Amino acid sequence: MLLPAAVTLALCLAVTHAAAADATAVKAPPALSKGEALFNSRCAACHGIGAKGTPVGPPFLDKIYEPNHHADSAFYRAPEMGVRAHHWKFGDMPKIPDVTRDDLAQIIAYIRWLQKQAGIF
Ligand code: HEC
Repeated sequence: MLLPAAVTLALCLAVTHAAAADATAVKAPPALSKGEALFNSRCAACHGIGAKGTPVGPPFLDKIYEPNHHADSAFYRAPEMGVRAHHWKFGDMPKIPDVTRDDLAQIIAYIRWLQKQAGIF
């Protein structure tokens, strides 16, 4: 009976590993729920639910968006000014109207949390 036990153990480990690898399996803390809702309604159409990216916009879980490469100031500037395509082939990001600095502070806190869950910094 040694072999089936080993197979069962291996399966358990595989399942645990898969759950840990999915950052969105962890629910955002309540303090970030406003940022999450704003991100989902204003940014996720291009940057994806959980900031995982879409065919029309880059993932923020990519290492280039960690705070040393793209500081919070870049995250305030992008929706206010728009972004000329330079890192990717998705095209330009348009200005996103009616997103206040206060909204952005909440959105950025949520994005930084997602990035930490994904282990990029
Ligand atoms: C209509 C699609 C779209 C929406 C909506 C959108 N973005 Fe973007 N965003 C893009 C694309 C495309 C790029 C990549 C540009 C490039 O090639 O570097 C980008 C890049 C960025 C960058 C990187 C800027 C830099 O300096 O390199 C930031 C930060 C950003 N977006 C923040 C946001 C935030 C915050 C929101 C929501 C308030 C948002 N985006 C909504 C399409 C979008």
